Amino acid sequence: NSENQTRALKVLLAGPRGFCAGVDRAIRVVEEALRRYGAPVYVRHEIVHNRTVVENLEKKGAIFVEELDEVPADAHVVFSAHGVPKTVPLEAQRRNLLYLDATCPLVSKVHREAERHFANGGEESRHILMIGHAGHPEVVGTMGQLPPGAVTLIKDAEEARTVQPENPDRLAFITQTTLSVDDTAEIVAILRQRFPKIEGPKREDICYATTNRQEAVKRIAAECDLMFVIGSPNSSNSQRLREVAERSGAPRAILIPKLENMDWKDLEGVNVLGITAGASAPESLVQEILEALSKHFTLDIEERIVKEEHVTFSLPAPLG
Ligand code: F3S
Repeated sequence: NSENQTRALKVLLAGPRGFCAGVDRAIRVVEEALRRYGAPVYVRHEIVHNRTVVENLEKKGAIFVEELDEVPADAHVVFSAHGVPKTVPLEAQRRNLLYLDATCPLVSKVHREAERHFANGGEESRHILMIGHAGHPEVVGTMGQLPPGAVTLIKDAEEARTVQPENPDRLAFITQTTLSVDDTAEIVAILRQRFPKIEGPKREDICYATTNRQEAVKRIAAECDLMFVIGSPNSSNSQRLREVAERSGAPRAILIPKLENMDWKDLEGVNVLGITAGASAPESLVQEILEALSKHFTLDIEERIVKEEHVTFSLPAPLG
């Protein structure tokens, strides 16, 4: 209405937000595979957890499947950024599929850590506690680097307090890369206290992108009446951004997968709107929302960048 057209809305844009280096690389893997080999290129699981990204790649000829048995013989198949259990490349080899691994290098790093702690199950072997969310593909992939039973999942502080490992002196921990920095610090502290000999990374395995996006949200949350987190519901790091916003003082934070999901009623009485985007959400979605807002409000946009990011990853060997 005409009243709204003149109403002022301050927008605080969190920076960094949106694509991380691992997501950018995974998308480039699919695009480059399509360019080199032609359509279709199969992708096992959503390449990154974002519908817009998936739909754009589908338009270019990518076909998304959940399991390898949906991929025909002789096809090219890309594994998603979240990583895959060891059984997946083995199965691809057995079926002579041509596969490309778009696992984020920072997830692969955790895979190698897990293998080092396991030490082939020999005398040096440590039982591994993995802090993460049950059923998330990254957790399935990381746990699947080792034989069943080698890794125990720790989902929360309560499980860290109650887990009863067979040999408390020979333990290690690893984490999912997209967790809440604060929750994970609490869980790690409990584990270190209960098991003083536990080995692990200095803090956790949360990646730079997750850390920076949470930090950026924390810095603006208390000034906002509402926070929009652009991202999909199945995106772990986007969900964490929503929680961090509310815990850091935003009265309310809402996950917005895309413009159509935005409800104008949510903006009633809002004078300061915070906007961030998960690591798998394209900046175009943020810009679309700003564009739509600018038709209803007189916008005053301020970007608050807490950290510059200069991370890039090269493509995996066959494409690099
Ligand atoms: Fe990699 Fe972190 Fe992105 S693990 S895919 S850089 S959110």
